Amino acid sequence: MSSLVLLDEISPGIGLLTLNRPDKLNALSWDMLDQLQARLDEVETNSEIKVLILTGAGGKAFAAGADIAGYKGRREREFMDFQFAGRRFNDRLESFPKPTIAAINGYALGGGFEIALCCDLLVVSTSARLGLPEGLLGLSPGGGGTQRLLRSVGRHCAADLLLTAWRMKGERAYEVGLASALCDPDDLLSVAKGKAEAMLKVAPLALTEMKRLIRLGEDASLPAALSFEQEVLFRLYCSDDGQEGIDAFLEKRQPQFKGK
Ligand code: COA
Repeated sequence: MSSLVLLDEISPGIGLLTLNRPDKLNALSWDMLDQLQARLDEVETNSEIKVLILTGAGGKAFAAGADIAGYKGRREREFMDFQFAGRRFNDRLESFPKPTIAAINGYALGGGFEIALCCDLLVVSTSARLGLPEGLLGLSPGGGGTQRLLRSVGRHCAADLLLTAWRMKGERAYEVGLASALCDPDDLLSVAKGKAEAMLKVAPLALTEMKRLIRLGEDASLPAALSFEQEVLFRLYCSDDGQEGIDAFLEKRQPQFKGK
């Protein structure tokens, strides 16, 4: 099977997952979804990889959406199965225990943007164009795009992207807070790597727990979320890493976190 998704360790602790179908702007096919799941299995079990960056090959796109050619002539059941598989991958990516960064050059449209929305951070270049243009095909997003975009940027910005099929430039994505960093296309990976390196200094258990808090907080009531926040803190305080972090600060040395 040709590699539609590449996985490399680009520096200690940092994995790079590359959507690799540049001739089709990395459009997401069934095979690609299968390979994405398999690559996440590898990242999850590889204790050397602490942070994962996702990007697209070719410089023209992160991913220009689901493979529209693959939609043609499908039976309803097959079409729905593809959507369910996309949703399974996106849900898994969103709740992935290790932090994830989408590094976006060029188009991140439809399912490509939906994958990026499942990452913890988005780093975009000035060539990035983000959007959910499914309405132009007479369709709507099915991989969480409407709901995750709404939660990320609010109702009216989400409506603008969805109802006008607007392709938002990287600069605007940065201005509205969707992207954490904006850079020249040539600097994309080094800027994403800089974010990943900052994460490597944070205790791994704390990273996983804070990811979970952000996700749960989007849907929980404030009192419930605040109680959950304190439960997390108490658990981390009782962890080896929590004690190590406090000791290291007081002893004026770098902490040695072990993820327990
Ligand atoms: N599915 C399948 N193939 C796609 C694709 C998609 N989502 N997006 C791009 N491609 C293919 C094109 O068909 C073309 O293939 P070809 O060279 O064999 O004809 C190749 O990728 C390059 O795309 P092209 O359209 O020629 O590039 P462009 O620079 O003129 O336009 C886009 C780029 C992104 C504006 C345009 O490709 C596009 O609108 N894509 C669809 C976006 C979309 O609707 N996504 C949601 C899908 S549900």
